[in-house]
Amino acid sequence: MKFYVTTPIYYVNDVPHIGHAYTTIAADIIARFKRMAGYDVFFLTGTDEHGKKIEKAAQEKEMSPKELADITHKRFKELWEVLGISYDKFIRTTDEEHVEAVKEFWRRIRADIYKSKYVGWYCIPCEVFVPSSQIGESENCPICGRPLEFVEEENHFFSLSKYKERLKSYLTENDVIKPDFRKSEVLNAIEELQDISISRPRSRVGWGIAVPEEENFIIYVWFDALINYISAVGFPGVMSIWPADVHIVGKDILKFHAIVWPAMLMAAGVEPPKQIFAHGWWKVRGQKMSKSLKNVVDPFELVQTFGRDAVRFFLFREIPFGNDGDFSEDLIERRYESELVKDLGNLFLRISRFAETNFPDGVRKRRTPSFPDINIEQIVSGWIERMSAFDFYSALNLLFQVVSYANRFADQKAPWKLIKAGLYEETENVVYDLGYLVKIIVFMLYPFCPFTSEVVAEKFGVKISNANGENELKELILQSYELFKISSTGVLFPKIGG
Ligand code: MSP
Repeated sequence: MKFYVTTPIYYVNDVPHIGHAYTTIAADIIARFKRMAGYDVFFLTGTDEHGKKIEKAAQEKEMSPKELADITHKRFKELWEVLGISYDKFIRTTDEEHVEAVKEFWRRIRADIYKSKYVGWYCIPCEVFVPSSQIGESENCPICGRPLEFVEEENHFFSLSKYKERLKSYLTENDVIKPDFRKSEVLNAIEELQDISISRPRSRVGWGIAVPEEENFIIYVWFDALINYISAVGFPGVMSIWPADVHIVGKDILKFHAIVWPAMLMAAGVEPPKQIFAHGWWKVRGQKMSKSLKNVVDPFELVQTFGRDAVRFFLFREIPFGNDGDFSEDLIERRYESELVKDLGNLFLRISRFAETNFPDGVRKRRTPSFPDINIEQIVSGWIERMSAFDFYSALNLLFQVVSYANRFADQKAPWKLIKAGLYEETENVVYDLGYLVKIIVFMLYPFCPFTSEVVAEKFGVKISNANGENELKELILQSYELFKISSTGVLFPKIGG
């Protein structure tokens, strides 16, 4: 069972921010969950290094575009390291294999390419051609709101409109776009489909891949970038892991992925991706993050303050994956204190300390654990189902049902009182039950907070192993051990400033 998940490739004009981290953590959560469920996962991320935007940023910094890309792509890699992103490949569009793959792709779809004149606007920050019909009086970009550049040039066009009907049936019959509420905007756009420009004259954009046999033109950066998803897995050679099972993208670039990309693949005779998931945007006090507003959230700083698992956790606990969200340090601090320090960290610490002190040889299973007022099996099934649908928000809600229950269970059963009363066997049963609940929590927490989860697993003697399919994963999570040999987890989530 293979599973291929991708992130967008990020522009290297600037260093990564929390928005980039969000998409990549989402893909990592999926990759970790799928591996746990036994899939042979291939997780791709990388950087988008060509085009006018990078060329301009490099000029401003008085360096060559390649020098800028060499420096900036490393910041992305560093961030992925810091955040524990388990990618299998990091592609750069300046990689030789990618460049060759793009040229070969162009050759393959040549029958769908023609030369014509483009008269309209171009947005450099978005790297998008904006036809005059799409702009209002302000002459600003309808996507990012920034000033546009007027362009009148001969370039190459791709016969996108030819694929209208095929695109419609592909998208509707296969349920490609997720979440469902994003479908209509794409289907509406298809109704008005026009051919698109896919090259720029070298006199205007010097940094990119040259059109094969026409050195005076540079391939449009989006055309180049989208091909990364197949060049990374062997195109034009054999691609055993294509099609992608899911492309994770921000809502801003959904149309490129759901319209342009599948049509390009259809033209080249390559199967389109199975699913495209578009998530929402993080804003700061209702505003887009931007350098000029000085409100860009630096993920490195956040990790310094809260730790990597807390950052990973917060972004998916706070808002449903798919919706927009508003970021503030206050919010993350509040969740950190109440849910990670208090609910989770405290649960792990008090149980593990108590067990270490009172049951140094481990707690034995005397009977199958059963919890009359919570349906653990249903929760675990629900969790697997929600994770499979990338509904992380509901999956975390289910996890917290178990966490709250475990805390209540510990309070009510009060093993520290039982042991004082000399009720050794009863105490052992309670600690065993708590160990069992922690085991379940460890699995359910793993995709979100892998580092915490691994420490707790080790201290409780839990093995987070790979299953063979979702059903077996459920069994693995619910399976009860003969013995829990527990040692203290220590403080996993220290108080901020404490
Ligand atoms: N290079 C293109 C993508 C090419 S994919 C073949 C690009 N790059 S980007 O650097 O601008 O990053 C795009 C992605 O970063 C968005 O689609 C989104 O996934 C993520 N985000 C950037 N800012 C974001 C927020 N403020 N909030 C959430 N995610 C955002 O577009």
